[in-house]
Amino acid sequence: MTSAHIDDFLELRNQTVLITGAGGGIGRALVRAFRAAGAIVSGADRQLETMADLDLEHRLSFDLLDAGATSGAIGNFVKDRGVPDILINNAGFTRAETLDQVDGALWDREVAINLNGAYHVTAPVVDAMSKRARGCVVFISSVNGLSHFGNPAYSAAKAGLISYVKALAVERGRYGIRANAICPGSVRTPAWDHRLEKEPALLAKVLPHYPLGRMVTPEEVAKAAVFLASPAASGITGTALAVDAGLTAGNLRFINDVLAGG
Ligand SMILES: NC(=O)c1ccc[n+]([C@@H]2O[C@H](COP(=O)([O-])OP(=O)(O)OC[C@H]3O[C@@H](n4cnc5c(N)ncnc54)[C@H](O)[C@@H]3O)[C@@H](O)[C@H]2O)c1
Repeated sequence: MTSAHIDDFLELRNQTVLITGAGGGIGRALVRAFRAAGAIVSGADRQLETMADLDLEHRLSFDLLDAGATSGAIGNFVKDRGVPDILINNAGFTRAETLDQVDGALWDREVAINLNGAYHVTAPVVDAMSKRARGCVVFISSVNGLSHFGNPAYSAAKAGLISYVKALAVERGRYGIRANAICPGSVRTPAWDHRLEKEPALLAKVLPHYPLGRMVTPEEVAKAAVFLASPAASGITGTALAVDAGLTAGNLRFINDVLAGG
């Protein structure tokens, strides 16, 4: 008998995966990482064109702001292709940076995309996974769901995802479902483009906040998602895993500016 290799625990050969926001910065890294683990990957995004160049088994499109279109597209996908073994809720969006920029319409929009949209994707998939008595869901939340770093409406939604993860873990564990969240710190993706257009030097200002002295990469977020979806994490459910270069471990600027004398 040959002994198991550590890579076996991270392998997802022939597992089917559905990734939302597949055409975005982290989404693309997720597609590559799950393909590298041997999975059969399908992608969802607002427009099919954003996924045209990706190595995907199937592409579907819907706008998360449209609950009916979202659950309709997911229902058709499950009917035609079967329930995926793994669901990665990665799509997300924010523009309202501080409370002064939030009004009722913006609040509704960012909560609708980031929290309600993820629910409308997940609920029908988890129902089908539960009938099959097996499934795994990973949500790309944010450090904003753990502490306040701006973007109040988005943060409320990202914290809501962590709460939803716990509900799924506790109430659907008996049906063989695992659910976890990843909380990335700043990641240089197209999500930062609108900020960098206003202030091109912004990225240098971000670094002193991070104990590792850098932002995390899309690939580091994707590797954490593969881990949580893999047999290596078979005992892990209901967690929120920070992939944040140490940001939420403490306040590095307080140490440097106040205690270490600047
Ligand atoms: N980049 C960061 O610094 C960072 C940090 C923490 C968490 N995140 C989270 O990581 C995830 C991926 O973000 P990213 O950095 O790759 O951003 P991105 O803008 O590159 O990708 C986001 C994806 O979500 C899709 N999307 C947005 N609104 C949608 C809608 N209404 N309907 C359907 N799809 C929609 C976009 O089309 C895009 O493909 C998001 O959930 C984001 O909140 C990002």
